[in-house]
Amino acid sequence: MADTDGNREADEYGIGVPAKNQAFFLKGLDHVDWGIKDRMARIFKPSSGHTVMLAFDHGYIMGPTSGLERIDLNIVPLAEHADCLMCTRGILRSSIPPLMNKPISLRFSAGTTVLNELNDECILDIEDAIRLNASALAIMVSIGGQYEAKTIDNLVRTADMGTRYGIPTLGVTAVGKELTRDARYLGMASRVCAENGATFVKTYYCDEGFEKVTAACPVPIVIAGGKKVAEPAALELAYRAISEGAAGVDMGRNVFQAEDPIAMIQAVCAVVHDGLSADQAYQQYNDLKAH
Ligand code: 5RP
Repeated sequence: MADTDGNREADEYGIGVPAKNQAFFLKGLDHVDWGIKDRMARIFKPSSGHTVMLAFDHGYIMGPTSGLERIDLNIVPLAEHADCLMCTRGILRSSIPPLMNKPISLRFSAGTTVLNELNDECILDIEDAIRLNASALAIMVSIGGQYEAKTIDNLVRTADMGTRYGIPTLGVTAVGKELTRDARYLGMASRVCAENGATFVKTYYCDEGFEKVTAACPVPIVIAGGKKVAEPAALELAYRAISEGAAGVDMGRNVFQAEDPIAMIQAVCAVVHDGLSADQAYQQYNDLKAH
């Protein structure tokens, strides 16, 4: 029953103190809904404005992949160092302990594998993403590929559903065999994702003109690591991408296939969040490896 007697009179109105009107810390997202901002603020660290996502969804097109044979043994120990985990619902349910309490970028499209022409994909059920408490819905978008229209349709429908339920959409730019990973192509693919409603975009780094790719994309970009290269080169890739406007990395093979994956993810975090140079981070990697 409501108390009707003895209530303290409300008198702390802060008259004359203007209400705060804070800009959101990630570009292009001032006008999205509260749930999307909340989830983005879990994926990206507000203190640095950046993220280190760990991608281990490769099995959905490749089957068992080197470094991902046993998610429980190889990935779970790494996961605590990542800001966000990118995986399929099958791996999430079977192998990731919910107690980790990490934001999940859920692989939300699926279809053909490497045994076939890639990117002929459909999307998952939004109810399942909600059940899994997904923090983002990751959709493959194949610009210039055989399934361009279909994958853009997947992105559009996902962004609509994500908007309905306050879940960000991550547009993942697929690169076909016939397409060049240059600034012109990556800039177009990223921009098309943003134009069609992606909350953030995952694409590849390119040596020339990457700052144009990030500048022309109105929402944050995270980069994929790509094929395994030597650790110093992978740290240099992360350093250059961040210096040229990326808001983070979503790395897989260059972390879980590193000689010491736990030291590697910490070194990547040092670059992305603490501004270490690639050389400094490689030094840190070697120090951590030695222990
Ligand atoms: C495929 C993906 C993968 O998650 C991605 O490629 C990240 O992994 P890696 O750093 O190994 O390239 O999104 O499209």
